Formats: sequence, C-alpha cells, structure tokens
Amino acid sequence: MSKSKNISTICAVVAGIAAVGIILFINPINKGTGMNMSNTNNISKDAIINSSLPIPALLEDKNPDPKVDDFTLEPQQGEVSFIKGTETKTTGYNGNFLGPVIRVNKGDEVNIHVNNKLSEPTTVHWHGLELNGENDGGPDQAIQAGATWNPSFVINQQAATLWYHPHFSGTTATQVYSGLAGLFYVDDEISKNLNIPKEYGVNDIPLVIQDRSFNKDGSFKYDTNMMDGATGDTILVNGAIKPYLDVKRVKMRFRIVNGANASNFNLKLDNGSAFYQIASDGGFLESPISQKSILLAPGERAEIIIDFSKYDKGTKVSLMSDKTEILNFNVKEDGNDTTEIPGVLTKINKIEKSQATKVRNFDLQGMGNMVSINGQKFDMNRIDETVKQGDIEIWNITSENSMMHNMGHPFHIHGVQFQILSRDGKEPATEEKGWKDTVYIEPNEKVSIIVRFNNKGTFMYHCHILEHEEAGMMGQIKVE
Ligand code: C2O
Ligand code: CU
Ligand code: CU
Repeated sequence: MSKSKNISTICAVVAGIAAVGIILFINPINKGTGMNMSNTNNISKDAIINSSLPIPALLEDKNPDPKVDDFTLEPQQGEVSFIKGTETKTTGYNGNFLGPVIRVNKGDEVNIHVNNKLSEPTTVHWHGLELNGENDGGPDQAIQAGATWNPSFVINQQAATLWYHPHFSGTTATQVYSGLAGLFYVDDEISKNLNIPKEYGVNDIPLVIQDRSFNKDGSFKYDTNMMDGATGDTILVNGAIKPYLDVKRVKMRFRIVNGANASNFNLKLDNGSAFYQIASDGGFLESPISQKSILLAPGERAEIIIDFSKYDKGTKVSLMSDKTEILNFNVKEDGNDTTEIPGVLTKINKIEKSQATKVRNFDLQGMGNMVSINGQKFDMNRIDETVKQGDIEIWNITSENSMMHNMGHPFHIHGVQFQILSRDGKEPATEEKGWKDTVYIEPNEKVSIIVRFNNKGTFMYHCHILEHEEAGMMGQIKVE
C-alpha cells in the first residue's frame, strides 16, 4: 500500500473519505490486474544508483538581441542507466531523458526551432503559456519524423514555472513516459526584484517528479492500468531514483512539476516541518503560505522555499511523497544567505464573477477506455465550444461519481491561466487563489473556475491523466 501512488487511493486518503474500504475494493476492478497495488518496488536497495540530483541545463538562447530569443529543441532517442547494471531506452530533448530549461522574459519574442529526431511524429506543447492556437503545439500540429516546426510567440504573462511536453494523438502518454518533458520559466520585473532565492541550480532548483516501473532488464514497463493511467512503483526526480542534494544552511527554492502520467504526489518533509509555498501553476501567490504538505496532480506545479538554516550541519532531511523518500537533502556548511521570505510577493487581480458572460459545464465521466467529457469523446474534427476573444467565462467542472467511477481528474485548459472560484461552493484554499492552468477535481466534486480567453485559435481542454486524455477525455475550444 505505502508505495502505491494510485490516484483514487491517494485521493481517498487525502480527502479522508470514510469509504476507503469500498474504494480499495473497487480498485482492482478499475485497475485491471491491480498489479501496481500489490507489486511494490522490485528494485533492490543496492541496485539504486545513489546519484546527486541531476540539474537540467539552461537552454542557450542563440539570439544576441536580449528581446528576441532563439532556442533549438531536438526530441531524440536515448539511453539511461537508472538501475545498476541495466540500460533503459529513453527519449529526451537535446539529450537522453527530459529536456533543458527554457528561460524567457515577459515581453520577449521567442522563436523555437524543433527538429524531430525521433522515428515517429511528435508535437511540442507549451503547458501554461498564453499564446495563440497555432503555436500551442496541440495534437493538430504534428511534427513528422525528421521534420522541423518553428513556433514564434511573444511572452505576455507574469513570471511562472511552466513546462513543455508532446501532445500527438495516440502517443502523448508513451512519449512523456519515455522521457519527453522539460521546464519553461518566465521571468518578469517582479520575479527579478523579489529578494527570494533565484540563482538557477544554486538556490533555485527545478524538481520534475515522475513515477515509472521497470522490467527486469531495466526497460521501462508501461502499464496503462486499462487506460486509467500508467503508474509506477519507482519515483524519479529529474530522472534519478532517490537522488541526494547537498545544501548549505540557507533558504532554497524548489520549482516542482508533477510530470507523471497519472499519479498524484503528496509532498512533505520527513520531519514534518513546514515550508513556504510561493507560487502555483501560473505564477506567484500574493503571499508565501506556510505548508506542511502539498498535493500535486499530474500537470500541476508549485514553488516552495525550504529554510535549511534551522538544521545543524550533517542533518539529513528527506522530501517524501506519502511514505516514500524521493529526494534526500544533506545539510552542509553555512552559506551567506541574503535572501528573505517577503511578506508580499505580488498582487493578483481577481477576475470578478460579474464580468463573466457565459457559464459552461463539463462533466468528466467514465473510466478506463470509456472516459468522456459530457458524454463525448475527443474528435479532432469537432469543435466542442466556441468563445469570443477577450470573453470571460465561468466553467463548472464535475467529476462523475458512481460505483464504477471513483477517480479524481486533473482538468487542464491550454493557452490560458484561470482562477478557482469555488470547490463544492466553498472558497478555495489560500494556495489555490493564485493563477492555475490545471485543477484537480475530486470524485463527485464540483469546481468552478473563471477564465479569460485572451488569445485566438483552437485549444484543448482535457484530463491530464495522459491515458484518459488519449482515451478521449479531451475537447476543443475555438477562440475567435
Ligand atoms: Cu500539459 Cu494538453 O497538456
Ligand atoms: Cu497544456
Ligand atoms: Cu481523468
């Protein structure tokens, strides 16, 4: 049990639902063989390579003009030794696994050159970026094997930790699972002027968290659990199994992405102490929030600051997902820390309900292969909703609950950042009052969001359990 990161189980635990027994009983049906429930980590302790935390490279901007950026991304095949004595076939951008961090400023004109070095089509979607549909990299924008795609857009949103990943119909889930994902940072005047940790790779560290299963020969084991999502018994952080990070006795910022296909991660420190959350998906919260744990569903991000000055040199602190250690911090010598935890981070302009011109309802239905939104499966040739550019709308998202369906779903909209109005009619928690592009909907819950559609084009909205998305829990909205 403890190693299982199965969505419905976690959601049950987190929500403290009394019907845990029922859910566990239903699970094996939901999950086909229920393999991941009983089959705990089959990697022996000494087969784990205790590496230091890999830090992805910052992608070089080849354009000398500070206001214009040129980046090259090359999805390609690779090989990684995750487990001693074995090699795993992987994919990555410009490397073996995952990709470099693309870092841009608000106001920049960004040109990206994607050269597809894979032997199959792919797309590159900029998750969380506000841009027009043609540059969004959705399933309708295939880059054939050997072909090139050159999206170009201007950054017009606040500082945030966004990410990029493939979105080709039928292969999104497997391409992400094999390693295609990377981070996309936006900076602005606020992020540059705040006196928070912000030195990349020094006191500002990305953490891409994903789970994988392995076959005996070291190859990735991709099991979709009958399309309810590929979960794994092993957690990777930046592509390493339980790595360590040496830290000075200073404040450290971590930008965390749940890059899993289907699993939620309930993150906390092994000693139970609190840290500060400073940002959600689309940028800074108004003020830092003291948190003892953070639940991230697939696609969601959070930025946190951990203050290591309160630990003695030699202390080991672990980042846990539920009861599993996923990253160990070794506290080292003192550092010269001039950063602070400011009282105020930013000002978030609330989108008022009264500004909304339309209410739409989306019911996430079914399980496994049978998933749909409002009874309809994704069809690339069908536009499900049409909106006028600049319009503000309220979307009510519900997750059907029945004996045959007890899963939560992370609901994501392309090309926008939205605000959460309510969960089951109640005000959202403070950490959910910032900008979001992905929101976790518990079984039988109704979440209302408010969103302004600033950019024209066709965009996807979908469940970010990648196997649900593949099975059709996705729709298209046209902004015109
Ligand atoms: Cu992470 Cu359709 O997106
Ligand atoms: Cu997206
Ligand atoms: Cu789903």
